[in-house]
This record gives sequence, structure tokens and C-alpha cells, in this order.
Amino acid sequence: MKNITIVGTGYVGLVTGVGLSEFGNNVICADIDKDKIFQLKSGVVPIYEPGLEEIIKRNVKSERLHFSDDISLSIQKSEVIIIAVGTPQTFGGDANMTYVDSVISNIKQNLKDYKIICTKSTVPIGTGAKIIKTFSNSFKEGVEFDYVSNPEFLREGSAVKDFLWPDRIIIGTTSNKAYDIMCDIYRPLYVNKNPIKHTTVETAEMIKYASNSFLALKISYINEIANLCESVGADIHDVASAMGQDGRISDKFLHPGPGFGGSCFPKDLESLIAISKEKNVVMETLSAAKKANKNQKAKMGIKLKKLINSGLKDKKIALLGLSFKANTDDVRESSSIDMIEFILSEGGHVRAYDPIANDSMSKIFETISYFDNVYNAIEGTDALVVMTEWNEFRALDLPRIKSLMKSAFILDTRNIINMSELSSLGFVYDNVGRIKI
Ligand code: UDX
Ligand code: UDX
Repeated sequence: MKNITIVGTGYVGLVTGVGLSEFGNNVICADIDKDKIFQLKSGVVPIYEPGLEEIIKRNVKSERLHFSDDISLSIQKSEVIIIAVGTPQTFGGDANMTYVDSVISNIKQNLKDYKIICTKSTVPIGTGAKIIKTFSNSFKEGVEFDYVSNPEFLREGSAVKDFLWPDRIIIGTTSNKAYDIMCDIYRPLYVNKNPIKHTTVETAEMIKYASNSFLALKISYINEIANLCESVGADIHDVASAMGQDGRISDKFLHPGPGFGGSCFPKDLESLIAISKEKNVVMETLSAAKKANKNQKAKMGIKLKKLINSGLKDKKIALLGLSFKANTDDVRESSSIDMIEFILSEGGHVRAYDPIANDSMSKIFETISYFDNVYNAIEGTDALVVMTEWNEFRALDLPRIKSLMKSAFILDTRNIINMSELSSLGFVYDNVGRIKI
């Protein structure tokens, strides 16, 4: 059992802190956002993440999980400091390191005894080495620290499960002492099998970028194959499932859609492109994956316009799903943003509904209409677009929808609505890469 402080209680930091307390550690989740900490102390979970609330309650009750807005004091109290503040993208494509830097300078001021400084936020390759250098320069002798890169692989929406049952845990450090301590905090995970991989700091930083960029590339690839399927009369679902049966390819992340979003794929792809340029290493696949994704997002708007066939001006469009994928309230880089922008730019009106993410999207688009259920959003609309694969959109009452809509046009960008039902009810529909029935 170790005393751990996580700085940053966002999607990643909160799940990590809570998960480590579940493993028996004594954890402080610290954040500069006083409101967030106040909410957490009052039992309110500021993000939507399935299973999180329950596990927070359990660990707060066992007094292993604490919340604080006093970063300095939290750092002083712990031996392991995990940095999980955001690293958003800068205009140049690089990760913005302002928040990480501010945590580092705070740790410097409070480094009185041995500590492990561990970075979980995704940071450009080489960041760890820079951090080690600044610490070594500041403290010539007497103060002991070790540095660890411990990247996260949590998917929003299933982050709790991903944390408790990880495929692998990467511990990048040259210190055996730090490695042993890190293994200790993840101990419950390797009672039966050992998912821990010990690497150098740079290798750990690279593993994160290489993994996310590969998954992004895989999605862009299947999206482009889906687009070609439409032109040659093939069906992407059969193609993808047969491809997935080949163990070398695997069936994961082969689902076509409106282009990937979220806080990681677009940003990490962009960062890796920036790093490769800085190092003068040509990496064509990364730029291709990025460009294909931009095209895919734009293509959804074109599909909608084509489907309606008479322009979007003054048309009322129901938009189902705002988050970048199901089971999260996060709308960062969501394809819905591109779709809303397109509809508005064409003079159309958006009637939006998301089971969880209406609030998040209303901070970006204040003036579009938001509804608290599917059927209110659909009433009197000229077309319906499904943007997110929420379960409730898989089982829509299509006859009721038909009776509520002004015209029966449906664009299903996630391929989740049954095509034979759509046809038999007389909908005019489109999706991504399927043979229409
Ligand atoms: C994470 C990682 O940090 C990022 O590198 C990764 O690529 C994606 O996931 P995320 O948890 O999604 O980011 O970020 P966010 O939800 O924005 O949370 C960051 C938190 O850090 C916020 O609560 C913010 O208030 C806090 N913060 C920020 C601090 O506590 N201190 C700071 O100096 C800055
Ligand atoms: C991702 C990584 O999966 C995780 O390991 C990492 O550490 C953080 O980034 P996340 O962004 O939460 O997780 O979502 P993910 O499930 O990977 O989906 C990303 C985007 O790709 C979503 O927009 C999703 O809809 C899209 N996607 C995913 C597809 O379009 N098709 C697929 O087959 C899978």
C-alpha cells in the first residue's frame, strides 16, 4: 500500500485515482478546480463514466480515497505523484505542456523527501528526459526523486473496466527502486497474470503514441474501404467481419462510422506527426490517417445533402447523439460538431438529442435546440441523422418516428438501424458502406 497523489481529476486522473484506491492504496485526487473538488467531496461525480460513482463511494467510505484542491499539501503527503492534467493540442499540433509544467514546478517546491514523479498524461516523446534534467539541475544533491512514464490506455465509457482489467501496464523508468514501487501499487493486477512491461521512459512515451495512432489509422482505413464498398456494391459489414476473422488483423476497431473523435486520437495523431517532422522522419501513414478522418467527417454532411436532394436551407434536422462515441458525455472532437456546423452553414436548423451530452454540446452551440428525448427532437423534422451509437438508438420505434417526421429521410452514420425495417416502412435512408435493402 502506497500514499499516492494524482494531480488532475479529469476523465483519466479521476478513474486512475479511484482505481488505485480500489487496489488498496491511500489516494488523494487533487485538482486546481475548486468547484470540481467541492462536488467530489459532496459525493457528486463531475463526469459521466459507467461504474465510477459506485467505486468512488466504496473507497471514500473505506477512507482510502480523498479529494483536495491544495496541490502543494497533497504533494507533500505522498511518495508517488501521478500527473494527469490535460495536454490539449496547440495551434502547431504539439501537445500543450503548460499544465504539466505548472505541476512540475509545484512538485519542485514541495520535494523535501524521496518521491516518484510519474506522468500519466500523454506527453511528447522526450518530455520525461527534460523533466529529469530540470529536477537534476534544481537539486544538485540531497533531494532524491525518480521519474516514471506510465501511460494510460483507458477508453472513455469503459474506463473503469479498462483500469481494473488492463491488457498491459507500461512502466517506463531506469530506476529499479521506482519500478518496484510502481509494481507494488498495481499489485492486485498480477496475482494471476502479469500485464506489467518494464521499459525506458522514451519507449513508454512512444508506446502510447504508436498504439493510439495505429488504432486511428485502422479506423481511417476501414472508413475508406467502406466508402469504396459503396461504389463497387460490396457490403462493409461482411468485409470487416471477414477481415477480423484473420487473427493478424483482429476484429477490433474495424467499425466504419462518421470519423473518429475524442480527446486522444486526433490529438495524439497530430502530436506524433509534429514529432516526426521535428525529427525529420517521414511518416506518410499518419498524415493519411488524419486526412482520411477529416474527409470522413465532411463526407457525412455531403451524404445528408445528397439524401434530401433539395438542399438543407430552412430544413429541420434531428440529430441523435452528440458525444464522440456512446457511454460518455465528452464531445471533444466529436463528428457531431462537424455535422452541426455543416447543417448551420447550409441554412438548416438542428434539433439535437443526446442521453447525456446535451449540456456539454450546449457550451459549444448555444443556439441550436436541445431536447430531452428522441421523439420530441424528431417531431416535424425533414431528416434524422444518427451520429452516436447509443444503445437507445439501436431500438428506435421506427413507425412512430415515421409518423412524427415531416419527411422520411434517415442518415445512419453508425450503421445501427435495421435496413430491412427502414425499407419496409418506406424510409429513404443512407449509412456508411452497406448494400441497401
Ligand atoms: C487526459 C490526459 O491528461 C491527456 O494527456 C490524455 O491525452 C487524455 O486524457 P483528461 O483527463 O481527458 O486528459 O483531461 P481533463 O478532463 O481536461 O482533466 C484535466 C484536469 O486537470 C482538470 O480537472 C483540470 O482542472 C486539472 N488541472 C489542470 C489541474 O489540476 N492542474 C493544472 O495545472 C491544470
Ligand atoms: C482511446 C483509446 O482507445 C484508449 O486506449 C486511449 O488511451 C484513449 O483514447 P477513447 O478516445 O476513449 O479511447 O475512445 P475509443 O473507443 O478508442 O474511440 C475513439 C473514436 O474512434 C470514437 O470517435 C469512436 O467512435 C471511433 N471508433 C472506434 C470508430 O469509428 N470505429 C471503431 O471501430 C472504433
